[in-house]
Amino acid sequence: MFDECIIRGIRFAPARFSAPLAGFTHSAFRRLLAELGGCGAVWTEMLAARQILGEDFQRSPWLRRHAVERRVVFQLMVRAGDPLNRVMDRLGAHGVEAVDLNLACDAFSVRATEAGSALFENLEALTLVAREARRAWPGPLLAKVRLGSRRPDWESRFTERLRVLEDAGFDAVTLHPRFFEDKFRRRARHELFPWAASVTRLPIIANGDLVSRQQVEGLATHLQPARAVMFGRMLLARPWLLAGWDGAPAPDSATIWRRLYDYIAEDFPPLTALRRVQSLTKYFAANFAFGHHFWVSVGNARGLPEALAMAERFFAGGPRMVENPVVAGI
Ligand SMILES: Cc1cc2nc3c(=O)[nH]c(=O)nc-3n(C[C@H](O)[C@H](O)[C@H](O)COP(=O)(O)O)c2cc1C
Repeated sequence: MFDECIIRGIRFAPARFSAPLAGFTHSAFRRLLAELGGCGAVWTEMLAARQILGEDFQRSPWLRRHAVERRVVFQLMVRAGDPLNRVMDRLGAHGVEAVDLNLACDAFSVRATEAGSALFENLEALTLVAREARRAWPGPLLAKVRLGSRRPDWESRFTERLRVLEDAGFDAVTLHPRFFEDKFRRRARHELFPWAASVTRLPIIANGDLVSRQQVEGLATHLQPARAVMFGRMLLARPWLLAGWDGAPAPDSATIWRRLYDYIAEDFPPLTALRRVQSLTKYFAANFAFGHHFWVSVGNARGLPEALAMAERFFAGGPRMVENPVVAGI
């Protein structure tokens, strides 16, 4: 299940992807995933389209890529009026293969700029942006969506918006089946994937609360119409999840944490690196019984060396791993 999919002539194998996670899916994290293997494509964090024009692709921690990273999908936060021609030209000139538009983020700061969920809601602006993006980008063009706003006519509104993407010539959509207002409350409504697939020709990438192979196989009737699956928070806790899909034993968790620490410390200035390590550790700690001691001690560290020392002390105690980490609510 989900061994491969072809999007606009490009083969993604396996069809198991890493989700865009602002603050987390930077090049350091993507590099680790690539080295571990098993991930058919990694999404960048959401990138403000206009900023692409001013950033240095070699130096910017948002745009930088390590050679080892394979298929990287660049996710853009776009609004009507953005100079998409120039943005896409620049991405193409730097070897970007695939682009995704964020139509799902409901954060106030994103909505305030008429991007993310606000763009999804505004049919006119969405139509404009979708057409312009397609005109400007010849490669795989995707969009990430939720179900829309929770209102009685959400189904017809959702269908209408997917039709806009379809007519514009998009190649696929990732669906996280929650309403905007849900944020991360309630559960992802996996049972809606077959319905979503029935109202659009676009291939669907299924996302939301997916955590393991066993669970994905158990959800086969709901997930069958999807072409690929995408994992977010569980990959922050278990970056080896996809590498172990076919039964490869899990690597030593302390070794993985140290590698992440090293890569983050290499890529970011010390204070930003510390914050990145701390936020990642919050998810990583979900692997352990009493893991909260781990993230609290790393979270209180005043510098990178102290964070590392705290982690080493935790690992030296031989922490017990839990079978099913809980990442919801983190
Ligand atoms: C910390 C955090 C940051 C996120 N950043 C983004 C983002 O930049 N772009 C996006 O489309 N979705 C973003 N999301 C949503 C995820 O991509 C994904 O849709 C969501 O977490 C559900 O998948 P999961 O249950 O596998 O984590 C973010 C989610 C979290 C928790």
